[in-house]
Amino acid sequence: MSLKNPPRTVRVAPSLLAADYGRLAEEVASIEEAGADWLHLDVMDGHFVPNLSFGAGLIKALRPRTRLVFDVHLMIAPVDPFIAAFADAGAEHIHLHIEAGANTHRSLQLVKSFGLKAGIAINPGTPAEALAAVMDIADLILVMTVNPGFGGQAFLDSQLDKIARLRRMADETGRDIPILVDGGIDGKTGARCVAAGADTLIGGTSVFGRSDYREAIAALRAAGG
Ligand code: DX5
Ligand code: ZN
Repeated sequence: MSLKNPPRTVRVAPSLLAADYGRLAEEVASIEEAGADWLHLDVMDGHFVPNLSFGAGLIKALRPRTRLVFDVHLMIAPVDPFIAAFADAGAEHIHLHIEAGANTHRSLQLVKSFGLKAGIAINPGTPAEALAAVMDIADLILVMTVNPGFGGQAFLDSQLDKIARLRRMADETGRDIPILVDGGIDGKTGARCVAAGADTLIGGTSVFGRSDYREAIAALRAAGG
């Protein structure tokens, strides 16, 4: 794919899913010290996705340990009964999936009613057009570049066109809507996503799987050109 968009300042959001769960508070402190912009927190319910992770209680316990923005990715259905708990836990961004229910527009409104930024996440098998009707309300867009549920999966090239399409749809709103990419993101795949229009790279394995977090974050940030 040719470089259609000029280089952007790229935000890096390490995903705690790949951290050492026996030393979570230290991991969060290390990632902040290493220059992360946001901390990505993956919540899984074993129903919407075939895996379990952690919930609002753990997020609340980490909140006093860092000043990083908490970027919470809900892979759960239903969503609405839990939004208040994640707001109370200290989330700044809450992403929910367009596939998670029949009325995701209402769910995004609910997130915003707590004064938080509302993100809409989209699975690899869902077309960009599915987000047209929530573009008026979404503050962030999260494009899954793997099928959600597990870290360490291979990046899906098929999502690049969708990123470009969503970039155009987001720009048409006239608002500044960040586009995050999540799954199989490293320096190389991240650069392709940025060229397609993404500006925020979520990295699990590519950050916490490396020994030097500062280098790992710098490698992702360099994807902006
Ligand atoms: C997957 C999660 C991702 C995951 C990414 O369902 O949403 O945030 O942590 O992990 P990597 O970067 O290893 O693909
Ligand atoms: Zn995620």
